[in-house]
Amino acid sequence: MHFNKENFEVNTYSYNGREIRYRAFMNRSYVDKPADPAFQIINIFVPECYYSGESINGYNLQNAPIFIPNSVGGYMPGPAMVPGPMLFGEAPINSLFFALEHGYVVASPGIRGRIWTYGKAPACIVDYKAAIRYLRHFKDEVPGDVNKIITNGTSAGGALSALMGVTGNHPDYEPYLEGIGAAKERDDIFAASCYCPIINLENADTAYEWQFNNVNEYHRINMEFNGDAPPTFIPEDGLLTDEQIQISDELKAMFPQYINKLSLKDNDGNSLSLDAYGTGSFLSYIESLLVDSADKAIKSGLDLSKETWLTIKDGKAIGVDFFQYAKQVTRMKVPPAFDNLSLEAPENELFGNKEYPARHFTQYGVFHSKVHGKIAEEKTISLLNPVAYVGSADTALAKHWRIRHGQADRDTSLAISAILVLKLKEAGRKVDYALPWGIPHSGDYDLEELFAWIDKICLT
Ligand code: DHB
Repeated sequence: MHFNKENFEVNTYSYNGREIRYRAFMNRSYVDKPADPAFQIINIFVPECYYSGESINGYNLQNAPIFIPNSVGGYMPGPAMVPGPMLFGEAPINSLFFALEHGYVVASPGIRGRIWTYGKAPACIVDYKAAIRYLRHFKDEVPGDVNKIITNGTSAGGALSALMGVTGNHPDYEPYLEGIGAAKERDDIFAASCYCPIINLENADTAYEWQFNNVNEYHRINMEFNGDAPPTFIPEDGLLTDEQIQISDELKAMFPQYINKLSLKDNDGNSLSLDAYGTGSFLSYIESLLVDSADKAIKSGLDLSKETWLTIKDGKAIGVDFFQYAKQVTRMKVPPAFDNLSLEAPENELFGNKEYPARHFTQYGVFHSKVHGKIAEEKTISLLNPVAYVGSADTALAKHWRIRHGQADRDTSLAISAILVLKLKEAGRKVDYALPWGIPHSGDYDLEELFAWIDKICLT
């Protein structure tokens, strides 16, 4: 493990008449015993003007926050990025460009993924931690303020950012970190930014059916890979079979028990629970989040009068029907949405091991397995679940949180991000949480707002 600050390139990148000029420290191994030496590397970028004593937005070589986005999607390997075009997705330019332009130091680690035997859970979170330990190890040479580390990610990458925020320095990860020769440093972070985190996988199936039960049509886009050509996207529309409808009913019925066990409370200390039908104060809480989302959209000038699931009075959103909302956004996944009974979901592969390429991670899944699937160890499953670690005595919980879950997201239930937020609040954290109107499963769509939030928390 080395840093060597004399070994760098100076690059420029232009986009829409905006140009960044930055110093790039490329391809540093962030561990001493990598499973994949070419992949477990980190790139570090610094605004070049900092080296001639200039500052941007009040930041300089010493005090700039360190923004650490990950490129993980679908729990696939997430390579170390460079400022410029997006790897995938609609946005033409990645967050690294804008973060450098804004004055942050940016670090981007490569993170192992589920398709590799050495990329199974918990490899992804172990790599993210190891990368942060590396930055701390070389803090006297690496620019920026290691006390102002902000992680950022979307979907599976949002899950990793959330995990970074809740599991800081937790001893459970130590053997894995030792295994890859990570630096003996702290790995807690200052702030976590999470877009539509795919978390709480062992409860995501019941949450999904609580939301989408009775929505029997599904619409999804399948990504198909043909050799080295870019993937093609093929839409698939279908109808749940009788068996799937029965599975949906069974999973939905299990959700209230989980929610009630959590003893969640709203901002006023009222308990949030569900009755056997899946209705009650927790449902009202989720509905209130949608009301807030609609209200903001109306205030910004959108006409939502045609949304049949929404009640608007005197130009204000005052109520929603959650189950009508679910019908309107439409179902994407067939039940069980995550722990697939034939082990065909990305998450099944994530929980594989050397012996089995894919495993179950719920009791329901293993009990109803169509392929005699095995279940992953309880500990391995919980190592990937931020909800399991919030409030744990052995962890340094990130001080600041920003979580976005698009109002039109159908990849996981809105309950999933809400549960994390409620647990964080219970642990004493303020969370900047919203369900932005009309936004599907995606991230980085409001970087200006994200950066304004980062600037604010770094100044206080
Ligand atoms: C992602 C999306 C999913 O629907 C899922 O189950 C896992 C990961 C993603 O986009 O990262």
